[in-house]
Amino acid sequence: MTDRIIPLLDERVVAIHPPLARDLEAPDGLLADRLGRPLRDLRISVTDRCNFRCTYCMPKEVFDPDYRFLPHADLLSFEQITRLARIFIEHGVEKIRLTGGEPLLRRNLERLVEMLARLTTRDGRPLDLTLTTNGSILGRKARSLVEAGLRRVTVSLDALDDAVFKRMNDVDFPVTDVLEGIEAAAAAGLAPIKVNMVVKRGVNDREIVPLARHFKGSGHILRFIEFMDVGSTNGWKMDDVVPSAEVVARLDAAFGVRALDANYSGEVAERWGYADGSGEIGVISSVTRAFCSDCTRARLSTEGKLYLCLFAQQGYDLRELVRGGASDGQLSTVIGRIWRARADRYSEIRSEATVREKKIEMSYIGG
Ligand code: GTP
Ligand code: 5AD
Ligand code: SF4
Ligand code: SF4
Repeated sequence: MTDRIIPLLDERVVAIHPPLARDLEAPDGLLADRLGRPLRDLRISVTDRCNFRCTYCMPKEVFDPDYRFLPHADLLSFEQITRLARIFIEHGVEKIRLTGGEPLLRRNLERLVEMLARLTTRDGRPLDLTLTTNGSILGRKARSLVEAGLRRVTVSLDALDDAVFKRMNDVDFPVTDVLEGIEAAAAAGLAPIKVNMVVKRGVNDREIVPLARHFKGSGHILRFIEFMDVGSTNGWKMDDVVPSAEVVARLDAAFGVRALDANYSGEVAERWGYADGSGEIGVISSVTRAFCSDCTRARLSTEGKLYLCLFAQQGYDLRELVRGGASDGQLSTVIGRIWRARADRYSEIRSEATVREKKIEMSYIGG
């Protein structure tokens, strides 16, 4: 990754992005990017490692035993992450999601959760603090995470059938352990839990209805994600994508579903409810129905690079500034400038050419 990072001295940021004639501002006077989008969410990757090798994310041919993950010395410390989080909050962030790789593999993650849980939003409300996990060790960790202050959790789960699940995680991990992890998390106080299923045609699309049936009535919210061309190792093809409209049609045929209103503007998932009132499901249609116009998400990598889009090709090195002794004010100015210059809207301009570009990996930046 190192060859694709923009060194971040103040002046150089300005050189890359000359000030605009008029900086856009959100209605509340906070930051807005070049498309008028505020900064509301920060997704923080805490490790680039994962104990799964999902074929669409960390294919074994690439992420093999010789693959060089980041050395520990390169990672932001919990103190550095918390400091940056506080500055992002001053710019308007209200939701923080911890991601990976698999975030629960980061040692003592509970300590970071505890530190972040103490932060409040600009108007003094508790932060919406959450985490995306593959669920493999959630059963063991759920209680300590709740005690540390975690408020909710999202679990990735791509199949109910054990053979299909094992084929997808490619490390022979049994589905029952993830299902138990979800229930343990619910029992520990993290319910309702969101469950994310990435749908790949011909691989797990036959699992759509069985997974829905499994979670129907459980209170958990199953969401179907269109397979995306993140990174450059997953061999993405449009033919592999099952459009959300098709997912909804299949669910409607099986159970009967009705559209629900969004919870908040800019919500990534489109919400649907079972006609019999037995719960909610969602579809995330990054390929067939891009949602860039409402994208308020910034991403901080494990080694402290700031990325403005899931499909970015380069990040901004905040770690260099943090370790170089930058003050809070300097960091705040730099982050503000970077966000103001943002014009990313990858999913809206996806084409055959962009699909082939070398982009950051999902395992590096997290979902
Ligand atoms: P909550 O509403 O806070 O529960 O989260 P969310 O709806 O934003 O969902 P989550 O963070 O779990 O994201 C679900 C999936 O949507 C991710 O794993 C990605 O696959 C996809 N996704 C999330 N954010 C983006 C984004 O900014 N761009 C694109 N293209 N996909 C995204
Ligand atoms: N397309 C869609 N979603 C993906 N995820 C990982 N790779 C992809 C992809 N290519 C999802 C995982 C998890 C989250 C971290 O991102 O399934 O839910
Ligand atoms: Fe699978 Fe998530 Fe690990 Fe990627 S980071 S290999 S999607 S479990
Ligand atoms: Fe945001 Fe980029 Fe995803 Fe569009 S493609 S929604 S800009 S992260």
